Amino acid sequence: MNQELLVKTVKQLVGTNKGLLAMDESIPTCNKRFAELDIPQTELMRRDYRELLIAAKGLGESISGVILCDETINQHTSDHRNFVDIATKLGIIIGIKVDAGTSDLAGFNGEKITEGLDQLRPRLQRYAEQGARFAKWRAVFSVGENQPSAACLQSNAQQLALYAALCQEVGIVPIVEPEVLMNGQHNLAQCDSATERVLHSVFEQLYRQRVFLEGIILKPNMVLPGKTSHDQENDQTIADATVQCLLRSVPASVSGIAFLSGGQTPEKATSHLNTMHLTYKSSLPWKLTFSFSRAIQVPVLAMWKGKPANYAQAQQILIHRVKCNQAALNGEYHS
Ligand code: 13P
Repeated sequence: MNQELLVKTVKQLVGTNKGLLAMDESIPTCNKRFAELDIPQTELMRRDYRELLIAAKGLGESISGVILCDETINQHTSDHRNFVDIATKLGIIIGIKVDAGTSDLAGFNGEKITEGLDQLRPRLQRYAEQGARFAKWRAVFSVGENQPSAACLQSNAQQLALYAALCQEVGIVPIVEPEVLMNGQHNLAQCDSATERVLHSVFEQLYRQRVFLEGIILKPNMVLPGKTSHDQENDQTIADATVQCLLRSVPASVSGIAFLSGGQTPEKATSHLNTMHLTYKSSLPWKLTFSFSRAIQVPVLAMWKGKPANYAQAQQILIHRVKCNQAALNGEYHS
């Protein structure tokens, strides 16, 4: 394992006052978002949309890395350029989503297991040759009666750790993404306790699997009440709960934590991150940044709607959102 290379990549991704743009939605997820806006669900439209994102002028000033899916890393832009080359020229590092999505966890109604370990070693080697320097694997956990179950915690944490070890073997930084879902009526304390259990399980398995912690990026959820909870909380409470939960669960050797947005509005995701930095920035052992998909892309897609006439304005919205998130890294975001 080339530890030096892994540390260098982590530093370039999270140590430069920038964040990550997740644009790696699977084909079905991307199609679902297109369908809601009557955008044709074709390979070409998906390509055009991803091109809109990556070609936005100034993206590299706020974004250190973009996460692509398999379709995009193999596509070319309308002027026949490769996505990896474009990003590299902008100083943006390419990441690749390598999990194959979730399926039902047998015997545990409503819980999920992430697939994708089959043939992962040669796939990672191929992606490394294509220029990917980091990867992503997402596991999901629901909060509910007896959920997350011990079986769900253990099996997903093991898969995440095996994935992370395989990535490091080929010099790819693994983004370890255990997501406690926002869906549901649970309150903040329930999300807090579920997130803590999830993170403990994940770090136990990472340790057993001999994963080099300085060479990973953790991509967790923020600690939030469920979407339909009656107890919504203010920014400070969420920032405090999130940071305390991470302090209890994440070793200081992990140098980067990049949050997912999880279905929060763009403004809320940014202001929660901003409040964490305002309150805790100088006292944390790890860098805290963003790796948002929806909290960056939802307003961009809503503006574009698949229409060339809206292209430039959609790009302006993208740049505005990434700049807002960058400002949040200094506690300087004003909604
Ligand atoms: P959201 O920011 O929309 O939660 O997506 C992050 C992500 O990469 C999901 O895997």
